Amino acid sequence: MSGAIFYATRYGSTRDYAHWIAKATGLEAFDMDDGAQALQRCDFVVLGCPVIYHKLLGSKWIRRHLDEISRKPVILFTVSGAMADAKLDGWIANSLPQNLIDHAHHFALGGRQNPKELTLFDRTMLIVGGLFNPDRKAGREELKGFDFMDKASIQPVVDLIERWKSGEAAKAPPGHDTKNQGNASPGN
Ligand SMILES: Cc1cc2nc3c(=O)[nH]c(=O)nc-3n(C[C@H](O)[C@H](O)[C@H](O)COP(=O)(O)O)c2cc1C
Repeated sequence: MSGAIFYATRYGSTRDYAHWIAKATGLEAFDMDDGAQALQRCDFVVLGCPVIYHKLLGSKWIRRHLDEISRKPVILFTVSGAMADAKLDGWIANSLPQNLIDHAHHFALGGRQNPKELTLFDRTMLIVGGLFNPDRKAGREELKGFDFMDKASIQPVVDLIERWKSGEAAKAPPGHDTKNQGNASPGN
């Protein structure tokens, strides 16, 4: 089985994860904007989406190609400040169709936010959001930035890709008995 990685990114951290996963597995990584042709060719799909303002970046591209994506086994890795929890599940549910969420294997990876890199608009929005966020720890992170990037955290994604490359997913329809094996998101 052959797969490919399709990612969206605003400030580069999801691209970094996509390239780390590509290097570890031999899969090609495509910015979603350049990936439509590769999508037709692959047997399984790895989607990488950062959370930006409570939504998954890349969700429009995913919806545009939903028919093609839904026919294949799917790994979704999200990159965010908030780690696997009900908040993140809610943002995913607001961004993607439920049948894709049910069918995908989700891994939550920690992101990076450097205030110096942000556009004026994003910086202003995050200052305002940080000041009013009732979750004070998250509020401080919005204001000051953070770096939760962890190369080792891709390992469960790499392990599942290796199993699929060796043909394991072909034995079971997506969303059935392989669902959530090796899932890095606690409680999901
Ligand atoms: C403008 C902006 C909005 C963000 N909104 C959220 C959010 O709603 N929830 C969250 O957990 N993280 C949020 N983050 C943190 C990002 O998910 C994190 O910085 C991620 O690494 C960004 O990915 P990228 O570098 O690939 O664009 C936000 C970051 C930025 C810059």
